[in-house]
Formats: sequence, structure tokens, C-alpha cells
Amino acid sequence: MRPIIPDYLAEALGDVEPDTSGEPAAYIPELAAADPERLAAAFATVDGRVYGAGDVDVPFTIQSISKPFAYALALADRGFDPVLAKVGVEPSGEAFNEISLESGTGRPLNPMINAGAITVHSLVGAGNPGPAERVERVVHGLSAFADRRLAVDEEVCASEMEHAHRNLAIAHMLRSHDVLTEDARGVVDGYTRQCSVLVTTRDLAMMAATLANHGVNPLSGEQVVPKPVVRQVLSVMFSCGMYDAAGDWATQVGIPAKSGVAGGLIGALPGRIGIATFSPRLDRHGNSVRGVSLFERFSSDMGLHVM
Ligand code: DON
Repeated sequence: MRPIIPDYLAEALGDVEPDTSGEPAAYIPELAAADPERLAAAFATVDGRVYGAGDVDVPFTIQSISKPFAYALALADRGFDPVLAKVGVEPSGEAFNEISLESGTGRPLNPMINAGAITVHSLVGAGNPGPAERVERVVHGLSAFADRRLAVDEEVCASEMEHAHRNLAIAHMLRSHDVLTEDARGVVDGYTRQCSVLVTTRDLAMMAATLANHGVNPLSGEQVVPKPVVRQVLSVMFSCGMYDAAGDWATQVGIPAKSGVAGGLIGALPGRIGIATFSPRLDRHGNSVRGVSLFERFSSDMGLHVM
């Protein structure tokens, strides 16, 4: 039988390949050195089938795509009220690394921007774990979403920490508002480790499929986080996952999604499919240029827009 989906994916990759616009993230030296030609796409269905084309098994750091998964873990570990008391759910309309705190309370506007994600990292783990235990909970949780033991890329992590002045400044602002209640540097260190977890496009498709499958990993059958948590996470991905391009994305692609500065991009369609793409050149919002084109195409070819 002809493998229709891999052929379709290979053709889609071929169509976007000539587009060399955008630049890999320059603010993390290890990422700036990545091969900008890498290109991959994968689909994982909620019944556990995975289809891919291109560099689907090449590892790269998850970066901001870790944010919805860490948010899911914090909600599952602590419950909704303590997390919502610290981090809002409103789109910021600003870049991912803007401070974007609610006036008065100092609460970050949402968990997808850095201010929110740094706070969310501090909330992962039941019973106030220490920094190392918390990172282990994050890596373990991300691994359950992927159904594979994931690891941290120590070089990328160290490279980012050397230049983490902006995230440290954000964390100190959060500490000054008592949104963070512990050492700001330790939380940024843990958050940077979270961003440095290595994944492949295949892993990301499976992680997205676990969200699409209401929190149950399609391969292991494990309920990684409860169903109401997934609804919350996908809602915030829909409104905030693409930063200040979230409105364009919602109208043109219409799939809950999240991007990362290493060039990954995921989308999750409840009850149907997890999609992931990888291409390191980014647009001015920090979203993968070819990834955005691929998702536009997938959405229109297969009628994936949720509306
Ligand atoms: O906090 C940072 O700057 C990065 N480690 C993650 C940022 C990121 O991936 C933004 N997404 N497009």
C-alpha cells in the first residue's frame, strides 16, 4: 500500500524548503550555531500512529514548547486556584521576553510568556520540592508526555544561563512582587534547564498527541495529567501560544499551538492529532518561518481550523 501521509509530508517540506527567510535565535550562542537547514514534520494520531518526513529524529532543545507542558504539570500538582492566583490567562500582545506583569499585583499575564513560565516553573511539584527535585519532576513529566526518557542539553543550558540577564531581571521583578517567593536565580536556572530538554520532532508530535488525547499518552496509555488540565492548557495555547502573532495564528491556522526559539512548533487538535514541525529560522515574533508556513498549509489542506 502507498504510504500516503509520509508522501504528503515530504511534498509539503519540499514546498517550504526554498524559503530561507528569518534567522536562527542569536541570543543563545549554542542555538545560533545550529544547522539552519534542518527541516522536519510529524503527525501523531490519538490512536498512536506516527508519520514523519525530513529530520524527524534530529534532537534540538524544546525551549518555549516546554511552557504548556510545565503549566499542565503545575496545574496537576497544585490544583487550579494556587496557579491562577500567580499567573493569569490573558494574551499579552507583546513579545515573549517582555515583562508583561498585571499592574498592581505583578502577576504575569499568561504562562506562555517568559514571566509566566518562570513563575509556573516555581509551581511545579507537590509539597514545595527543592530546585533539583523540581527540575527532575519537569523532566520526568515531559518524558511521560513523550513516552521516552528525555535529557537536558547541558551545553545549551550553560550557554543560555551566561546570557540570561533579561530572564534574571524578570525573575527579580517577580520576586519583588512576591509572585516568586524564593531565590530568583535558582528559579531561572531551573526554568533554563526546562527549556534545554532535548526532543525530536517525533517526540513533539507525540507530546502534542497526548494533549490532543485529553492527557492520555497514546502509546503508554498513561493519564499524564487530568482532562480539565488539558482543556485549560489548550485554551491558553490558543490565545497566547504564538505571542504577539497569536491573533493572526488563530484566524489563519486555528489550532492550539506553541513555538520554541530552537525552531520547533507544535499544534494539538483535541480528539484527533498532534502535529510538530522543526526549522530553526525564526520570524520577528520568535516563531519558525517554515513551521508557520507548514501549519498554514496543513490547516487549509485538511480543514484543521477548529472553527
Ligand atoms: O526564555 C527564553 O528566552 C528561552 N529559553 C525560551 C524562549 C522561547 O523559546 C520563546 N519562543 N519562541
